[in-house]
Amino acid sequence: MAKAIGIFDSGIGGLTIASAVKKQHPNRQIVYFGNTLHLPYGDKSSKNIQSYIKAITAFLYEQGCADIVVACNSASSVLDGVALNHLDVHLTNVIDPVVETIVNSDSIKRVGVIGTKRTIDSDVYSARIRSKRSDIDVFSLATPLLAPMIEEGFIHGDIAEKVIHEYLGELPEIDALILGCTHYPLIRTEIDAFYNGSVRLFDAPELVASSLKLHDEVPPGREDHFYVSDLTPAFEKTAKLFFGEQVKLEKSNLFRY
Ligand code: DGL
Repeated sequence: MAKAIGIFDSGIGGLTIASAVKKQHPNRQIVYFGNTLHLPYGDKSSKNIQSYIKAITAFLYEQGCADIVVACNSASSVLDGVALNHLDVHLTNVIDPVVETIVNSDSIKRVGVIGTKRTIDSDVYSARIRSKRSDIDVFSLATPLLAPMIEEGFIHGDIAEKVIHEYLGELPEIDALILGCTHYPLIRTEIDAFYNGSVRLFDAPELVASSLKLHDEVPPGREDHFYVSDLTPAFEKTAKLFFGEQVKLEKSNLFRY
């Protein structure tokens, strides 16, 4: 029988990925986990993030998930050090589908990457792109204010525009930019406006959703679940922004408090 698709993030940013997965695989049950108790991941140590990955993956496995999407760049960047051999699950990270698209595009020679401190410090995009295409120059920039800014609803308007301009102004001339955080699709239009459409933008949701190889049969629809480790009205409100429609968040006791 077909299994559910598990998707997890530090919080609700990964709902941008869940939304694209749901569109491309509408008959699949989704079980989402947002570790809102421990967000943000962007300034956490690799060790801590790896311990969260282990716990959440085991939780999703128990919920019947065989395919699990790590819908967070910060978590995806430290995934290599996580041993999950005892679980019969297939993990998809949000970095490789974007890297594959970039390295297969002949016209890209200078690419920028923006993301959290954890993602940028890991150098993961640069290393993976350059291991396949040494002729591409990669310019990485940590943009730690963007995720909290988006979560607080500053997406359109002066404040968002100022922060975006301040950060992107630091990058040299590029012909493509990777939005290396699952929050950033929400400000894609504003980033595009900064470049007047002259820089190609790459983000993960559609690329990740279409990279999922789900071979088994589709079962009759089962209800999706959206778990969080800390539940407040603010998360409920913001979740709609990321998923595109209202979702009912459920409190999980995985990390008890
Ligand atoms: N969604 C996370 C990512 O893609 C960013 C938010 C955080 O720092 O937890 O890296």
